[in-house]
Amino acid sequence: MESLPVAGPGAVDRHLLVVFGATGDLFRQKLVPALYHLVRQYNLADRFLILGVARSQMEDEDFRALSRVSIEGISRGQAQLGEEYADPGDWCDEALYFQSIGTGEAHAYRALRNRIERIEAAHGLSGNRIFYLALPPAAIGPTVRGLGASGLAHSAGWTRLVVEKPFGVDVESAVALNRVLHGCFDEPQIYRIDHYLGKATVQNLLVFRFANPLFESVWNRDRIDNIQITVAEAVGIGQRAAYYDRSGALRDMVQNHLTQLLSLVAMEPPVSFDAEAIRDEKVKILQSVRPLRPDDVVFGQYTAGQANGRSVSGYLEEQGVTPGSVTPTYAALRVFVDSWRWQGVPFYLRTGKRMHSRLTQVAVTFHGPPVTLFKSFERSGRQGNVLYFKLQPHEGFDLLFDVQKPSDHPQLDTRSLAFAYEEAFGSLPDAYETLLYDVMTGDRTLFVRSDEAEEAWRRYTPMLEAAISPHPYPAGSWGPKEAERLLSPRDHEWTVRLPDNGDPGI
Ligand code: BG6
Repeated sequence: MESLPVAGPGAVDRHLLVVFGATGDLFRQKLVPALYHLVRQYNLADRFLILGVARSQMEDEDFRALSRVSIEGISRGQAQLGEEYADPGDWCDEALYFQSIGTGEAHAYRALRNRIERIEAAHGLSGNRIFYLALPPAAIGPTVRGLGASGLAHSAGWTRLVVEKPFGVDVESAVALNRVLHGCFDEPQIYRIDHYLGKATVQNLLVFRFANPLFESVWNRDRIDNIQITVAEAVGIGQRAAYYDRSGALRDMVQNHLTQLLSLVAMEPPVSFDAEAIRDEKVKILQSVRPLRPDDVVFGQYTAGQANGRSVSGYLEEQGVTPGSVTPTYAALRVFVDSWRWQGVPFYLRTGKRMHSRLTQVAVTFHGPPVTLFKSFERSGRQGNVLYFKLQPHEGFDLLFDVQKPSDHPQLDTRSLAFAYEEAFGSLPDAYETLLYDVMTGDRTLFVRSDEAEEAWRRYTPMLEAAISPHPYPAGSWGPKEAERLLSPRDHEWTVRLPDNGDPGI
């Protein structure tokens, strides 16, 4: 996880990266641009080659041309990079190959193995391999078995397997998926990606907590009143109805991304900063989450409204959505962690599509003073001490505190101490750059372990089975009003921090 700042060719063994699903969106929009940036930023051109694999037939040249177009479409902060490979086409021509797997018959895997061995022999690679499965869930099992049966799960060097979420759709399927993976690969070979863990601001939650004793000493039930995690999206479901209508907000966002944020905010200090120690603590938090009741959950579904200044359709009008679908596009939850540190502190989680803004924040609200001395002071919009982690956009944090406002009558005002990443360090790396680099160096800290995935599903599966109906909310809002009832028993309110001008900066 500390890898990027000290990154360089020395830390990466020479290897072949085999990407299944190499004609798909993930490869084109995220992986190949991230790989190109890594090559340029850390001089990795002689460290790895890429073999794209997909069902279709394609020549190497066509794959290179497609990849080049993808990179040119998505380029990030290249001004500071050197001249070498300034033209992405040069790198694509040198580093990319393509192999069709057709419908995945045994002979196609044999041909794949031959191709891998030929590329390795031609370039003097010693058998270090990464298999990246950028595939829909249904294709994972057959591909893993195909790799196992053709003897590709192990090699003369190291072999690593990268799997994208979703890791199942409930606890049963998560266990079944792990069984398939473990049937061919050992757990230390497996890198399960939750891309939120690759975001620099998400990793910084741990640094913030454990490098700053000032905060760690108040990180408990004695000082903290409640914690809110908001992952709001302004976009709708786009062209993904086929996937999303069967998934919904709890599966798509809560079980993975929001739960990762919860674990990082709530976990105990690990015994060391190595992968297993951190992942052990994250699992313990999941184990201490109190079983959820339907009362702790509110679902919503967007209706037509105004988003980003234009009229947008409701979920039920989106192309491909089943008529009358009750799939939630919004979920809010009240979660308690039954641990010594967190007993009685509510964690409020919410996420939704077509919400007011694109924004991911963690708001930690501290207790107010035990005695209110400033009763007679006028208080305009006073919020007390709240620490906002702004994970995206405008990455950074704001710590709110009260001050006396100079005026002719006593007044309290809330102001902030603020830190902004971009001002301090320039633009942040894309999550996929961090994660790909960590797979290349064999650092598993930012990847989800098998027991972690299963434990998260164990928490939420009863809520998936509880048939909770979604409440409508207009696109462009903060979700259904009913979500307030999760907070009202304690007099809490949902809170996010918008920039001073109120512009969410989408
Ligand atoms: C994905 C979900 O995992 O995360 C999408 O499947 C969602 O539905 C996306 O839009 C959000 O990621 P980010 O990085 O844009 O916050």
